[in-house]
Amino acid sequence: MLSKKMLSILNEQVAKEVYASHLYLAMASWAEEQGLAGISEWFYAQSEEEREHMLKFIRYINERGGHATVPAVEKPPREFPGVREAFDASLEHEKMVSAAINDIVELSLKEKDYATNNWIQWFVEEQREEEDSVQGIIDKLDLLGKHGLYVFDRDIMRMRGEE
Ligand code: FEO
Repeated sequence: MLSKKMLSILNEQVAKEVYASHLYLAMASWAEEQGLAGISEWFYAQSEEEREHMLKFIRYINERGGHATVPAVEKPPREFPGVREAFDASLEHEKMVSAAINDIVELSLKEKDYATNNWIQWFVEEQREEEDSVQGIIDKLDLLGKHGLYVFDRDIMRMRGEE
């Protein structure tokens, strides 16, 4: 059985994952409208992954005797100043999510809720991978500069196919 505090922080995480999914969806739609098919696909896929994260939290809460809350979702931005800015915003968002996951780890240890501590480790690793992946894209963008954007767009399309 989850504590009240744990139930509350896990439900807050459901909301964060839903927002992440919406944010990436907004970025996908924006990129698609800019004619950047590869980048758009990357964001669409990322949005799906975040939805899966949300489902994992909902199922875990319910499995442990809680009742997950399906939250209202804040509207994400519609426009982004550029591709680099969109990926910068992605990295910032992932860092925020990582900090929130760390808070859950911390609470699980404090409460000696080792089942949650064990379960949440998957997200600790997932966040490390996601931050690394977005940082890798930002590094590539820095190398390419504006004129390489077309090549990069094809490159990112291939990256998705290889995963
Ligand atoms: Fe599910 Fe990327 O945070």
